Amino acid sequence: MRMKDKVALITGAASGMGAATARLFGREGATVFVADLLDKEGADVVDSIKKAQGKARYLHLDVTDEAGWQATIAEIEKSAGGLDVLVNNAGISGSAEQDLYDTAAWNRLMGINATGVFLGMKHGIPAMKKRATQGKKGGSVINLSSVSGIVGQGYIHVGYNASKGAVRMITKAGAAQHGRDNIRVNSVHPGLMPPMRTSGRTADPVMRAKTLKGVPLGRAGEVDEVAHAILFLASDESSYITGAELVVDGGWTAV
Ligand SMILES: NC(=O)c1ccc[n+]([C@@H]2O[C@H](COP(=O)([O-])OP(=O)(O)OC[C@H]3O[C@@H](n4cnc5c(N)ncnc54)[C@H](O)[C@@H]3O)[C@@H](O)[C@H]2O)c1
Repeated sequence: MRMKDKVALITGAASGMGAATARLFGREGATVFVADLLDKEGADVVDSIKKAQGKARYLHLDVTDEAGWQATIAEIEKSAGGLDVLVNNAGISGSAEQDLYDTAAWNRLMGINATGVFLGMKHGIPAMKKRATQGKKGGSVINLSSVSGIVGQGYIHVGYNASKGAVRMITKAGAAQHGRDNIRVNSVHPGLMPPMRTSGRTADPVMRAKTLKGVPLGRAGEVDEVAHAILFLASDESSYITGAELVVDGGWTAV
């Protein structure tokens, strides 16, 4: 059990990679808080974890809502006694926008993808500090960036790349600032994965086939392949890794 005795909060965990990570953490012995806007889907994820003998609970959280973050962290501290792992996974795609410089889309993308991560660290880390300095193995924050936080793309709203680039650097700032608190902060950068709920062009089979030509492993990734990378960074196996960016892209950005 690689997550035994750990309390974890995963945002955007009703769907996709967040849901896969929640189920994997549940199988590995964590107490998992599944947070999202999609209450029905989130409750279904919790049910599936419980059916597999795991411990989980759903909490409604809009990651752009600072008061919501405060209430969420307070509830976790009250009911589970503290927080060890925070996975800032909630996000929206920029590939459905027609105008790649639309201002409203910029604000939406930055608000959810970047400010949402900032607020998670702002309110999650103080709670994690209490346990990390009490002789446990320390806390771990994992922020979901993307290959779009490393390289630019011609077919995605610029706010998606900017927000994911911000996540990459918030992560490194967090690593620099919280190492002495025994809290590690790392980012994960998925490549071509099953489309997001909010995907547009990146869900188009013709576009995906074109992208695949540049992926050395020659296939799209699976949500469990990202969940396993997140599990490694959440577990004590990665105890000397902080400020790192773990690319899970089949080699896309290596060529
Ligand atoms: N799928 C991909 O191709 C891909 C590639 C690289 C990175 N990513 C990143 O990985 C993360 C997960 O993506 P996914 O593929 O699982 O997408 P998804 O659309 O399946 O899941 C995203 C989840 O975030 C939730 N969410 C959206 N806005 C929210 C908000 N304001 N508050 C709380 N929850 C909110 C959604 O309800 C959804 O459940 C995202 O940050 C995404 O940008 C995805």
